[in-house]
Amino acid sequence: EVVDAFRTKLLSWYDKNKRDLPWRRERDPYKIWVSEVMLQQTRVDTVIPYYERFMQRFPTLKDLASASEEEVIKAWEGLGYYSRVRNLHAAVREVVASYGGKVPDDREVMGRLKGVGPYTVGAVLSIAYNRRVPAVDGNVMRVFSRLFAIEEDITRAATRRRMEALAMELIPEDRPGDFNQALMELGALVCSPSSPACDRCPLVRECRAYAQGRVRDFPVKRKG
Ligand code: ADE
Repeated sequence: EVVDAFRTKLLSWYDKNKRDLPWRRERDPYKIWVSEVMLQQTRVDTVIPYYERFMQRFPTLKDLASASEEEVIKAWEGLGYYSRVRNLHAAVREVVASYGGKVPDDREVMGRLKGVGPYTVGAVLSIAYNRRVPAVDGNVMRVFSRLFAIEEDITRAATRRRMEALAMELIPEDRPGDFNQALMELGALVCSPSSPACDRCPLVRECRAYAQGRVRDFPVKRKG
């Protein structure tokens, strides 16, 4: 079946080509959550040393919850976008206060935490809890817009929802977290914004944009 071939090709490529990143050695939802918040506006290479230091300082969710705001902000210094860490700290305290210190294993409940949007929910639930939840970030939107030649503006919320629905159809029962990360990794390593390496792409034969000779026409974005 088409969907099976798609999953198998992408996951085999990921198994051979994924980067060995520190948070990929973890299943603790707290650690996955912190890594995803750091990665939201910051490049992987920059994040790595911050992530390592942060985990030495706050090894568990409870350590972070009981730390002072000042201490937490200090550990974030240099990463910028401080509202991210203020929201994370408030959310982690809420997890201790209301959920016994366990990150809620539920889309609705986790999505109500401060600063936690659909992308973060999807990443944490799929990677840490093996749940079939989409995690559609900018990389994944670029990959999908090319694979399926999606002409809609990726800055629109409706387009993101369409891509989340597409991802839902594709995520396999057995490896949801790896599947989501494989899409991100393909976007980062192969299906890059300005010089996609289609000759190295495991999905080149299922790519509609490639078939049409129009890879560079995607993603469609409204003009600044
Ligand atoms: N960017 C956002 N989340 C990521 C992840 N889990 N691995 C690599 N890059 C990412």
